[in-house]
Amino acid sequence: MSKGKRVLVTGAAGYIGSGVCRRLLSAGFDVIGMDSLMYGATGLLPLLVTPRFTFVRLDIREYALLREQLNQIRPFAVVHLAAIVGDPACKKMPEVARQTNLAATKALFGAASESDTSRFIFASTCSNYGLSDSTALLSEDNALNPLSLYAETKVEAEHWLIENAATLETYILRFGTAHGLSARMRFDLTVNEFARAIAMDTPFDVYDSETWRPYCHVNDFAEVICGICSDTTVRTGANVFNVGSDEENYRKIDLINAIAQATSRTARFSDTGNGADRRNYRVSFARIVEELKFMPRYPVAYSARQISEALSLGLLPSHEAHYANV
Ligand SMILES: NC(=O)c1ccc[n+]([C@@H]2O[C@H](COP(=O)([O-])OP(=O)(O)OC[C@H]3O[C@@H](n4cnc5c(N)ncnc54)[C@H](O)[C@@H]3O)[C@@H](O)[C@H]2O)c1
Repeated sequence: MSKGKRVLVTGAAGYIGSGVCRRLLSAGFDVIGMDSLMYGATGLLPLLVTPRFTFVRLDIREYALLREQLNQIRPFAVVHLAAIVGDPACKKMPEVARQTNLAATKALFGAASESDTSRFIFASTCSNYGLSDSTALLSEDNALNPLSLYAETKVEAEHWLIENAATLETYILRFGTAHGLSARMRFDLTVNEFARAIAMDTPFDVYDSETWRPYCHVNDFAEVICGICSDTTVRTGANVFNVGSDEENYRKIDLINAIAQATSRTARFSDTGNGADRRNYRVSFARIVEELKFMPRYPVAYSARQISEALSLGLLPSHEAHYANV
């Protein structure tokens, strides 16, 4: 089914994108990775040695060039991961964030529609739920409550895609907070940050320790995207899915305990009380289980052990600038 089918992945050099490309290649797709390389190209190196992988270095805000590329590539599916990711990065470059996360998303979708693309897969975020009553699990039908520019741009992009999805089978995937090892590693994500500190016996601060979030492994995101690209079922219009699992909703305090337990270590942390980030949400993943038969396979404990092992083997040198988006 996948042999010879072309998939365009934007943000291919990123933390999630590099694994998505690898998974699509292993399923037999021809993959065209596109990225402006804001954080370097280490994520691409394992891909460049693969024959069915092609790289296009492009800033997706170059709309004319983007349209030209889409016209040439004529992909079966577009997986749109390129973005200014996270509250701190969006705060640092608000205009670039609006252009990339919203305006360029519209331009890419338009160019994809014109180039006979069949599927458009958009990476959104559970951050869109913002602040909620922590006792209830939030479904895709709950109201969104973005608390940051990052989430605002994702919510606006979602709304626009839903309005325009009549022209193209569209998937809006609201990812939980990602974790796990990647060729472009990030330690500015909660699980990875805590796992590294605990593995290295470094003291760390925790704010809003009682707040809930869902977490999901990068390999699981790659799996769900590959599943959608491979699926023979056509689901017209906009399809919105939370991506993660009910069991992987954690309060930060429980996350720390889970990581310490999985690695048989002690966490040395200070609870600093309430911080500026008020996000608090527990999410239901019933829809993706029911409709796509998708269940994540890699829990937080798996990442904790892998990160701990990679550090003890000296596989992750401490070039801090490479490992964060700010
Ligand atoms: N990491 C998470 O926890 C998480 C959670 C929910 C949703 N997401 C979404 O998943 C996607 C990927 O996230 P990530 O963690 O891999 O982020 P990342 O920052 O590691 O990767 C983003 C990639 O996009 C590229 N990029 C940025 N602006 C670009 C532009 N104008 N043109 C071309 N390329 C550009 C960057 O160079 C980078 O390689 C994003 O859309 C993000 O919003 C991530």
